[in-house]
Amino acid sequence: MASSDPFNAVDAYINDLFVPPDEALAGALSRAQAAGLPEIHVAPGHGKLIYLLAKMIGARRILEIGTLAGYSTIWLARALPEHGRLVTLEVDPEHAEVAGENVRAAGLGSRVEIVVGPALDTLPRVVDAADAPFDLVFLDADKSEYCAYFEHVMCRVRSGSLILGDNVIRKGAVIEAQPKESAARGARAFNAQIAADPRLEAIVIQQVGSKGHDGLAIARVR
Ligand code: SAH
Ligand code: DHB
Ligand code: MG
Repeated sequence: MASSDPFNAVDAYINDLFVPPDEALAGALSRAQAAGLPEIHVAPGHGKLIYLLAKMIGARRILEIGTLAGYSTIWLARALPEHGRLVTLEVDPEHAEVAGENVRAAGLGSRVEIVVGPALDTLPRVVDAADAPFDLVFLDADKSEYCAYFEHVMCRVRSGSLILGDNVIRKGAVIEAQPKESAARGARAFNAQIAADPRLEAIVIQQVGSKGHDGLAIARVR
């Protein structure tokens, strides 16, 4: 028995209890698969976690960096109140197109704006255009750019805002001083940066289960 099996079995148990079957989310994953997109969406339970975090802080404005097929986008946008807004940044026009379909099929088209282009190019405009600070930012694009995303978004958050960073453990590779994988190097640098930033209180939780061994950074702006 592979060592990850108990984790997958418990993931299934948790999902059965807490993540009921959902037409829009299932449809988003099947359209993503049909379009040949990589299956690197957040796991169902992790989607529920970021949804709950957004709800717990009463988020009204959310920024996501890394849309893919809009699976995490749907989770986050569902946490918004009626007039809430989510902006999500995606470099790949094909991903953005699938995400647009998925978000509309979920009935969230009016709350979500998808901005196509490299995040470091589009972020300055998106940050400037925001009429109020972001209550929650979800970093999930190029791991080697997390530190740069972080610098941009710190200009447009408030006391109590949350900054979440996906995939910051990378199968444990981040504990090496010089990880071979550039994503792990980026995640390691990001973890060190948020840990040391006096403007934040933060933690990383490691995650296991259907998406393997990884982790989520959760930082609150003081
Ligand atoms: N948040 C999604 C998964 C995102 S996967 C979910 O959980 O459902 C990472 C996405 O980031 C991919 O779609 C990839 O095309 C995009 N990406 C990679 N580099 C990027 C960049 N520099 N700017 C914007 N998006 C980028
Ligand atoms: C990768 C990216 C992700 O956003 C993710 O959740 C899992 C894996 C990757 O690029 O390997
Ligand atoms: Mg991710």
